Amino acid sequence: MLVLGVETSCDETAVGIVEDRLTLRSNVVASQAELHAPFGGVVPEVAARAHLDLMLPTVDQALVQAGVGLSDVDAIAVTAGPGLVGALLVGVSAAKGLALAHDLPLLGVNHLRAHVEAVQLEHGLLEPPLLALVVSGGHTSIVAMDEHGTFRQLGATIDDAAGEAFDKIARFIGLGYPGGPEIDRLAQGGNPKAFAFPRAMAAEGYDFSLSGLKTAVIRELRRMEAAGEEPDLADVAASFQEAIVDVQVLKTLKAAGAEGIDTVVLAGGVAANRRLRARMEAECEANGQRLLVPSIPLCTDNGAMVAASGSNLLADGITARLDLAVDPNLALAE
Ligand SMILES: Nc1ncnc2c1ncn2[C@@H]1O[C@H](COP(=O)(O)OP(=O)(O)O)[C@@H](O)[C@H]1O
Ligand SMILES: [Mg+2]
Repeated sequence: MLVLGVETSCDETAVGIVEDRLTLRSNVVASQAELHAPFGGVVPEVAARAHLDLMLPTVDQALVQAGVGLSDVDAIAVTAGPGLVGALLVGVSAAKGLALAHDLPLLGVNHLRAHVEAVQLEHGLLEPPLLALVVSGGHTSIVAMDEHGTFRQLGATIDDAAGEAFDKIARFIGLGYPGGPEIDRLAQGGNPKAFAFPRAMAAEGYDFSLSGLKTAVIRELRRMEAAGEEPDLADVAASFQEAIVDVQVLKTLKAAGAEGIDTVVLAGGVAANRRLRARMEAECEANGQRLLVPSIPLCTDNGAMVAASGSNLLADGITARLDLAVDPNLALAE
């Protein structure tokens, strides 16, 4: 069974094809980063228009990469939310058109669930119970998957998402957009202990707060500027990154321990962060937890994860109707 997955929730027009739930046949991502870079963030109207231009060429490219035609495809999966409403509508409309024209089942995918289920393309079908840290530009949450496809939220950010904090600090220190990969790169040469930035809410529950950290970094840079001191930006990036990573690793392992769950999934765009991956790997190993984390192209937004998640829906017989609506605020947990 071949499932074609369409992803347009934010600024990536992406199409992937997955065979029999587990095998990646193609994964094509047309990034709009250059279009949004001058604005320092995603402009929703620009994103929706670019999705329109890029949608069909990206579908074609994914088919070519997989060496198949639309007549070989068995179902069309599409991100129905969460995301930018105009951006989501382009993908969902395209998917409906393809499903209708080729008389194929339509599968409405939750983008956050797809981030988690991307893991199955490299590590096999997920076996619940497991705990997932889902960290991206729009989300930061710790969820437990007790059964296939059923998520229970244990904690979430009360203000900024992790990727949002990375992007904002990157912008403040004059790095390009998106900022996460830039901070990751700059931090490689920095000292994570150079600045003692706050670890907000480290001792409290499983929720996160990142706005205080962001303010602390900005305040320190302004103080240094006023004092005529030249900040070492690599040290700033490394210390900021370490403060985020510390709290995320600590809370994820604490939740896994309290829930008695020994498989941890790290998912979402920020899961591409090298320091987060390395620290999570080391801590999980020390705690006897199994860590599952997608390779980097499957962490950031992509169509293959949508196809994988859609394949799971298809296997469970959960198809969408042609009036499938987009939901910009679709939650992961019920
Ligand atoms: N190496 C990295 N380190 C930290 N953050 C990263 C890294 N790579 C990507 N990100 C961040 O991930 C976010 C994008 O996540 P993604 O899941 O692709 O998109 P969305 O948030 O739209 O679902 C951006 O905020 C980006 O800065
Ligand atoms: Mg995402």
